[in-house]
Amino acid sequence: MENIVLIGFMGVGKGTLARALAQESGLYAVDTDDLIESLTNMKIRKIFEKYGEEYFRALERRTAQWLVDNVHKSIVSTGGGFYKVDNLKEIGIIVYLHADFDWIYDRILKSKNAKKKLKKRPLFQNYKRAKELYKQRLPEYRKVADITLDVEGKGLDQLIQALMPHLPQ
Ligand code: S3P
Repeated sequence: MENIVLIGFMGVGKGTLARALAQESGLYAVDTDDLIESLTNMKIRKIFEKYGEEYFRALERRTAQWLVDNVHKSIVSTGGGFYKVDNLKEIGIIVYLHADFDWIYDRILKSKNAKKKLKKRPLFQNYKRAKELYKQRLPEYRKVADITLDVEGKGLDQLIQALMPHLPQ
């Protein structure tokens, strides 16, 4: 089995779950935003500010190809728009983490570093616009997913148990 790839909207908890899964399974977790930040030595926010969204999307496509070529038997968490890369399915099994928009918004607001978490996400600066983006993406996430996991009201342990059988061997 290849990698397991977590997709879903900003703030739904892809990175948190990926790291918890890694800890539980002994597999490595890699995150596409972290890979892009290390490749460019820039923060995602800065990349958007300086070069714009299209440039960032090109970096995502480059990262997708790098994952296909180099990463195996790992847990991959992704930025909220990464699911659009052409070769997504070549990376591994796609797991869509689903929650309602307002649950996600609340999760961010209630988190310890709420301000920082919003600030680092250029596409989550405005509630209304972010909600529009969510509505537009929702059917697309569902369409590319091999597995959809509802995360609302579930603890990390429950989510880990649900995904354990799908982890790479
Ligand atoms: C984006 C989500 C962000 C990051 C970038 C763009 C998006 O990642 O990749 O700001 O288009 O939804 P998170 O999903 O980790 O916030």
